[in-house]
Amino acid sequence: MKFSTLAIHGDGKTEERAGDIVQAVHLATTYKQPKLGEFQENVYTRGSNPTRLALEKHLAVIEGARYAFAFSSGMAAIDTAFHLFKSGDRILLNDNVYGGTFRYASKLFAGMGLSYDLVDDFNTLDFDRLPGDVRGIFLETPSNPLLKVTDIRRLAEKARAGNITLIVDNTFMSAYLQKPLDLGSDIVVYSATKYYSGHSDILAGALVLNDEENAARVKLLQNTLGNPLGPQDSYQLERSIKTLAVRMDRQCANAAAVVDFLRAHPKVKRVFYPSIDDEERRVQEAQSRGFGAVLSFILRDGCDPARFIDDLLLFDFAVSLGSVESLVCHPASQTHESFSAELRKKAGIEDGLLRLSIGIEDIGDLLEDLERALKAA
Ligand SMILES: Cc1ncc(COP(=O)(O)O)c(C=O)c1O
Repeated sequence: MKFSTLAIHGDGKTEERAGDIVQAVHLATTYKQPKLGEFQENVYTRGSNPTRLALEKHLAVIEGARYAFAFSSGMAAIDTAFHLFKSGDRILLNDNVYGGTFRYASKLFAGMGLSYDLVDDFNTLDFDRLPGDVRGIFLETPSNPLLKVTDIRRLAEKARAGNITLIVDNTFMSAYLQKPLDLGSDIVVYSATKYYSGHSDILAGALVLNDEENAARVKLLQNTLGNPLGPQDSYQLERSIKTLAVRMDRQCANAAAVVDFLRAHPKVKRVFYPSIDDEERRVQEAQSRGFGAVLSFILRDGCDPARFIDDLLLFDFAVSLGSVESLVCHPASQTHESFSAELRKKAGIEDGLLRLSIGIEDIGDLLEDLERALKAA
């Protein structure tokens, strides 16, 4: 079956007793045990909840994965993934990584006995010269906020040969556009707050993988760290996933039109999007179904980014991405404020950089809004 069908039907199972055609919301925090010494699947909701399990099965189906886990936030999923490493391990992160992930590495790794290095380009990384303690790679492709593309297949081969676990944060793409497990990565994490939710009203995370041993450990961590997604949010997230493909098709088409518009505009110095550079475009086309709906750009010298933001009517000035409404954000002071000014400069995150998350509004209205704000800037 194709993605759009799987997104609606999942594994085809819903509440049998009443014949519901949508998932039932199981709010109970604890479940009756049959007898002393006899146990059933659901004992206590932190370990297992039927609504969450239904969502997790649905996530596994659309990803084509053996296992999926739903968490209370993207950071909870990322925290769980980092707990798979042990003291003494080093993890490589791309230098354009979400600021919250960087904050985790820079503030918490040392206390866990972990260390990290930032890598500017995994496509050209020389694996023969890596320190012997590198046990993990954490990658976002396209990266955040500069939309740099990494060849996942090539990186996965190298990582496997070096016994290094490859984790891909696939938030910007979703399983609809890109399936990193099929490309050889070991673990995929999501901020499901973004495209999976799609309506800026659920905070959630997901982790998907195929390896049985790691899956057992993730289940233990989810129950022990106590970070699973609650039943109401699980229900709502599953409902949102049903429209993922339709939303993303529209968002990607709108984003492509915005990219063309900005690239031709005299007040725009540079646009960042995976279709612009020939080599990145080739890799992106080979490993995904589309270019996504997030783009960044820099205004020409002398233009005022604050004025541009103020004059937008449809684009709300807010962090986050992936929802039906369009947003504008300023990475240097918002999503990437946890980077020092020096690090931001090194990673190419200029103070004048603006990031757009494109929604599903009418494209004519979006371009008109951008034109008015650019005129004012
Ligand atoms: C790429 C990426 N990964 C992870 C996260 C963290 O997710 P959450 O906000 O759901 O904890 C975000 C949040 O913005 C993100 O953009």
